[in-house]
Amino acid sequence: MERQERQERQERQERRERQERRERQGRLTGRTALVTGGSRGIGRAIALRLAADGARVAVHYAANETAAKETVAAIEAAGGSAFSFRTELGVPGDADALWQAFDEQHTGDGLDILVNNAGIAGPGLIHEVSEADYDKVFAVNAKAPFFIIQKGLDRLRDGGRIINISSGVTKVAFPGMTSYAASKGAVEVLTLTLAQTLGSRGITVNAVSPGTIETDIHPWMADPAAKAHAAGFSVFDRVGQPDDVADVVAFLASDDARWVTGQNIDASGGSGLGV
Ligand SMILES: NC(=O)c1ccc[n+]([C@@H]2O[C@H](COP(=O)([O-])OP(=O)(O)OC[C@H]3O[C@@H](n4cnc5c(N)ncnc54)[C@H](OP(=O)(O)O)[C@@H]3O)[C@@H](O)[C@H]2O)c1
Repeated sequence: MERQERQERQERQERRERQERRERQGRLTGRTALVTGGSRGIGRAIALRLAADGARVAVHYAANETAAKETVAAIEAAGGSAFSFRTELGVPGDADALWQAFDEQHTGDGLDILVNNAGIAGPGLIHEVSEADYDKVFAVNAKAPFFIIQKGLDRLRDGGRIINISSGVTKVAFPGMTSYAASKGAVEVLTLTLAQTLGSRGITVNAVSPGTIETDIHPWMADPAAKAHAAGFSVFDRVGQPDDVADVVAFLASDDARWVTGQNIDASGGSGLGV
């Protein structure tokens, strides 16, 4: 327990130092980023990080307006620039509605970085998944990013970035999340395909695959024994934090990643590396 507290203290300190370094850098100054599901969890960490790097961030959310406003307030308190807007994904016409809501709030023109992060869990062995649940998971996790990209391409500037949040469940079998894993597999193939399509415009398209990250999507982590078990998936013996993913996204969003496209970057703390 003491060891874990020490480790968490040290990680907090390291996060603070990284944040300070980034504030000095401002490598995304002048760029606009849209983060779907930016109100909470991994999306919030991505929004904060891209804003700390200098981007103006559009924080998308589904229903939790308070959380979205908290994300924007945190960005502004740190000297950054952001706005929030609401669109439910996974329903007919969602991509059109998202861009309309974005356009109503966005004062500048165009977009430089699109992060498809919003997603929902889809538990169940294959025989436990209903057709309706399958459709919902695919509608939010796979279909929405597809059409958000399709309908956003005229806004995305040449040289821009598309970053899709996938999951480590596509690399190691997770039978308890059959439909979810399949939906993320679809996102990864879309990533590869679009990297080829959009290369002529200098747009990079990459995926990031987190392992188990401590967010609201995992209410079971409130149980210390379950959390300790999940920590054991990583070679670092801890569960991931949203920042662990956001920092990888920030790299892909930056000029440093200009020569990286069509890739799926693992951010799982070495989960499932071997026996
Ligand atoms: N946490 C993990 O261990 C983990 C691991 C691998 C991959 N991922 C992936 O990472 C992404 C973020 O996960 P998270 O753990 O940060 O989740 P989270 O804490 O549950 O947050 C989900 C975010 O997505 C938004 N969202 C959910 N359903 C939506 C819908 N139907 N329409 C529009 N927005 C919706 C939520 O908006 P509201 O706040 O308005 O509800 C919220 O901002 C997901 O794609 C997930 O599959 C997570």
